[in-house]
Amino acid sequence: MTANADATRPLDAPIDLGLLPFTARVDGNGRLRIGGCDVEQLADEFGTPLFVYDERHLRARCRDYARHFGGAANVAYASKAFLCMAMVHLVHEEGMNLDVASGGELHVALHAGFPSERIVLHGNNKSFPELKRALEAGVGRIVVDSLDELVRLDGLGQRGLGPVDVLIRVNPGIDAATHAHLATASDESKFGFPISTGAALEAARWAEQSSAVNLVGLHLHLGSQLAGAGQSLQMREACERLAVFAAEVQTSTGARLHEMCLGGGLGVSYVTGDAPLALNAFAASLRDEFRIAFEAAAIDPLPRLTVEPGRSIAATAGVTLYRVGTIKEAVTRTYVAVDGGMSDNVRPTAYGARYEAFVPARANARRPLTVAVAGKHCEQGDVLVESAQLPDDLAIGDVLCTPVTGAYGMAMASNYNKVPRPAVVFVMNGSARLVVRRETLDDLVRHDQV
Ligand code: LLP
Repeated sequence: MTANADATRPLDAPIDLGLLPFTARVDGNGRLRIGGCDVEQLADEFGTPLFVYDERHLRARCRDYARHFGGAANVAYASKAFLCMAMVHLVHEEGMNLDVASGGELHVALHAGFPSERIVLHGNNKSFPELKRALEAGVGRIVVDSLDELVRLDGLGQRGLGPVDVLIRVNPGIDAATHAHLATASDESKFGFPISTGAALEAARWAEQSSAVNLVGLHLHLGSQLAGAGQSLQMREACERLAVFAAEVQTSTGARLHEMCLGGGLGVSYVTGDAPLALNAFAASLRDEFRIAFEAAAIDPLPRLTVEPGRSIAATAGVTLYRVGTIKEAVTRTYVAVDGGMSDNVRPTAYGARYEAFVPARANARRPLTVAVAGKHCEQGDVLVESAQLPDDLAIGDVLCTPVTGAYGMAMASNYNKVPRPAVVFVMNGSARLVVRRETLDDLVRHDQV
């Protein structure tokens, strides 16, 4: 199985520009530019591994989401996909809300000056201090995920904090068409209150009676990287179950539910031939299914539909640059080893995720060489691209680029083997700005005490 899943495309075809950020262009010398910057020169200037984000692409995706969902205020960027202070500023400038899923993400958002009332706090195990911090800061929404959390919120209410607006996260029992680790609404899921067992109704009743919280709506997130053929059907089923449940809550508690958050999940193309729904098709179908289901459940007026995209905003906006260090003929294949690996992109190891690779200084070159792109970590599973197509003049020192690494790459980066985490640059209009500096060797011992 090669990285190129499109049978109509020659195996050795140059990289498909459709996998690259919107402003990617190949110049007259065959060199790739993103945001008007020569990509190989970015590697020379900032070092490798390097995450490069096309700022125009990020902003365009935010604006597309805002347009498709009735305004930026109905969209919360899921910061778990990629978070740094510059990204917080960008989301703020675009007028969107921000979804944070831990005290750490909350801290980054607040530290960067994001308005607290536009923050939505998630998490299946929010601690007392995390909840306390959120209430003290005045976050706009908490998405409640357990009865224990409601008890903690009551405790904070008794200390004079709150009341805070909450959504109850429900689990509709739908096994989303995606990798098992990314399906968050099946009967096995650790997230949300199951509707089928009555737990969701119990939570809604509790919230309705508690003076520490204002129950304003419900939340449902089917899963991430939704791309399978069954996706549309599952979205319909999710809307139906949510609407039926919302009607039940309204009847049995008297609560008025104004807001329904359908989470994130829209998949992206990682390799040529992947075919996730386009955002406009996804949005149109979600809006339709939502309206039909809530009308059928006689919920009037229609609650506000909100979403929380992460990957579909950040993934394709970002690429990773590496430098080739060794090329080795193993018995069954050729390994091209680069200066990063599972510490900056754990997705191949964690989910069997597939990527492509190419040489940005020769972006038009045919890629007849089939190799495995390996990282530098002491682990056989540290292979970034199992079957990459690369130019046959590939040499030590070449800069290699893996596209579609803007989501859950840097966000899940680690210091495995004490490899410092990469730098991040935003490029736009021919200039590059460093938004996260590269970790230094000194950073690696900064927390140690002897
Ligand atoms: N809302 C909630 C409640 C979520 O749990 C998630 C993702 C999102 C929104 C954003 O979903 P997105 O639009 O990005 O699909 N590390 C994995 C992805 C984990 C996603 C977790 N939750 C990966 O690399 O694929």
